Amino acid sequence: MSSVLKEKSKQKTPASFPVRRMDYEFQDMPKYWCNNEPTFTHYFTGLSTLFPEGESYFVRSVRALRAQVKNNEQLDRDIGAFIGQEAMHSKEHHAFHQCAQQYGLDPESLEKMTGIVLKAIERTFPKKWNLLVTVGLEHYTAVLVVEMMKDVNELMTDETIRNLWLWHSVEETEHKAVAYDMYQYLYGKGLAAYIPRIAIFTFSLAMITVLSTLYQVVLLKRDRQLFNLNSWRKFMHHGREKYKVFIPKFLDYYRFDFHPNDTDETDIVAQTKLKLGLNETSHHLVS
Ligand SMILES: [Fe+2]
Ligand SMILES: [Fe+2]
Repeated sequence: MSSVLKEKSKQKTPASFPVRRMDYEFQDMPKYWCNNEPTFTHYFTGLSTLFPEGESYFVRSVRALRAQVKNNEQLDRDIGAFIGQEAMHSKEHHAFHQCAQQYGLDPESLEKMTGIVLKAIERTFPKKWNLLVTVGLEHYTAVLVVEMMKDVNELMTDETIRNLWLWHSVEETEHKAVAYDMYQYLYGKGLAAYIPRIAIFTFSLAMITVLSTLYQVVLLKRDRQLFNLNSWRKFMHHGREKYKVFIPKFLDYYRFDFHPNDTDETDIVAQTKLKLGLNETSHHLVS
């Protein structure tokens, strides 16, 4: 095959999932858009402030090793689509924080804090470990978004914010295996790949739990709702029920033969796409 033909056929390899361009407008958001409660709202706002810098870090960690994956055409295309989706998530969550600023809680300061933490990790860790933080947090996200699509979204009283979380959830499910497959492609499936995988996952899980809780507390304090015990009681009850679902799913990651596609979310994703009015063809070209 001539090099021109080769190049053309390469360009035609579709990614397994699309990159959707979104542009949500959040101006009309209410103050307490989740369950009409400060604890719920600030938990999800705090989680959201991890995304712009967090997802940029994921993109950098994948890009740092992408050159070594180039001869796996499908995986390379899917990495391209992964980068496209995560970049769009960063942009939309940032737009959400800018609008949330109308209530004076400065969520952008938490974005900055996340950036400082992640840049310190990035400088300290080798590329393999940075990729593993991404792989681990992609599993964390993949677990959370199933519950988001199932029923958590119904707590969100603002339609635009609900759509933001649902769209993000669909895409997290679509690309949940990309970073994992990249890791396996580069480092294999043996014990030498397994041990750092679970060690960095444990670290990442602790880090995201600490940061998301800390951010919720900071936002509640800024909102003078930190001692709203009635709101805390409702949040704790909800959290306890959800963690009964999350913990076994987090633990799945510790299985030696774990793979993100061991679980199948086709039905819930199809229902969510319908809810969002997303209908599209199954072939996607991305760069
Ligand atoms: Fe994302
Ligand atoms: Fe992701």
